[in-house]
Amino acid sequence: MTATVEVQTPFETIGGGEAVRRIVDRFYDLMDSVPAYRDLRALHADDLGPMRHSLTGFLSAWLGGPRDWFDSNPGKCMMSLHAAVPIPNIVADQWVDAMRAAMRDTSVDNALADQIAVAFQRIGSGMINR
Ligand code: HEM
Repeated sequence: MTATVEVQTPFETIGGGEAVRRIVDRFYDLMDSVPAYRDLRALHADDLGPMRHSLTGFLSAWLGGPRDWFDSNPGKCMMSLHAAVPIPNIVADQWVDAMRAAMRDTSVDNALADQIAVAFQRIGSGMINR
């Protein structure tokens, strides 16, 4: 007999699509209002609405949830996309700080939020190009 092991994805642990949406909304609200994130904000378009939608979809898939974002954006490479954005290390730090704060403010389990933030730190470091 073969045993089936059910593995819960981070997407499920975090609370699914609604929870990811809350984190992303808080992330962009912080980016839009906290002076410490001014440089990061300045790189984004005035209207953050499309980004709220896109980042929610991307992170849902990245956390192991529905892959709609990748189905809608075949071949889109996150690293190549960010190569066109001037990213110094202080701005990469602002992204990770704002996302960590957003997870704290939306009550994501502390240990899980720390793990996710470490992964974002690595991805963000790879995007530094200035
Ligand atoms: C390292 C610091 C980062 C900076 C400065 C940055 C900046 C940006 C900017 C300026 C845009 C375009 C926004 C617009 O059109 O208004 C963008 C798009 C995006 N970023 Fe980042 N980003 C960073 C890190 C990340 C990380 C770590 C992720 C994912 C884990 C990510 C996911 C995305 C997504 C999903 C999009 C939208 C792509 C699309 O729909 O075309 N970014 N980013």
